[in-house]
Amino acid sequence: MTKNNQPIGLFDSGIGGTSIWKEVIKLLPNEKTIYLADSKNAPYGEKSSQEILTLAIKNTEFLISEGCKLIIVACNTATTNAIDYLRENYPIPFIGIEPAIKPAALFSKTGAIGILATKGTLSSKLFAKTAKEYTKNITIIEQDGEGLVTLIENGKTNSAELNTLLTKYLKPMLQFNIDHLVLGCTHYPYLISQITKIIGENVIIIDSGEAVAKQTKSVLEKNKLLANSTTNLVHQLYTNSEPKILEQIIKDVSINFRVEKLDF
Ligand code: SIN
Repeated sequence: MTKNNQPIGLFDSGIGGTSIWKEVIKLLPNEKTIYLADSKNAPYGEKSSQEILTLAIKNTEFLISEGCKLIIVACNTATTNAIDYLRENYPIPFIGIEPAIKPAALFSKTGAIGILATKGTLSSKLFAKTAKEYTKNITIIEQDGEGLVTLIENGKTNSAELNTLLTKYLKPMLQFNIDHLVLGCTHYPYLISQITKIIGENVIIIDSGEAVAKQTKSVLEKNKLLANSTTNLVHQLYTNSEPKILEQIIKDVSINFRVEKLDF
């Protein structure tokens, strides 16, 4: 197989990165993908920086062994803690997911924006650097979404328990008159309808999926790596947990895919 027709790899601490995967397969319909859901080790956001790096390396080496030509780190926590290391140590391009603070800060009229992310993202050096760079005249209200990822990974996206947590995390942000809410974790786009009910239609919710898909396309173009053959395109998804939960969250896509349980 020529390098162009090798797959794009994506990994996440679980099923949340499929919010990015869906945008990628929409924008790049000729590309084959391999998605790795490390649900057994979720949530990454509660782990130390060193533990997150170790898991990111393991996932990367698996995807490279599967022949991936580019890897999307479809997890904010893994991006903020490991992307510099991955870029320095592996000879393929990496795309990361950074919280979309820049557009939120740029378009804010009230001068206050909220960010919901994991502890691992909020406490990372990369997050601190980005926040400092783009929010000079902006108040940024940070909230750790502890517990949300675990509920989503357990298929409890529409539960009362999750709604109670979200309300506790988001209601206080409204007192600061935020006009944008940045979703700093790839699991959270699956909560947009519940979030909108809590914060109302006037607060703009920003997630990174579309921007990441565009960035992936541009990096493939720049590296002359766009696929040039589309025969038998079947997307492969691996999970080390319950395949049914992964299948459930991607059931709305209309492409050929295969979900397989792996022991890793
Ligand atoms: C987590 O595993 O804690 C969340 C993953 C993310 O930050 O996107």
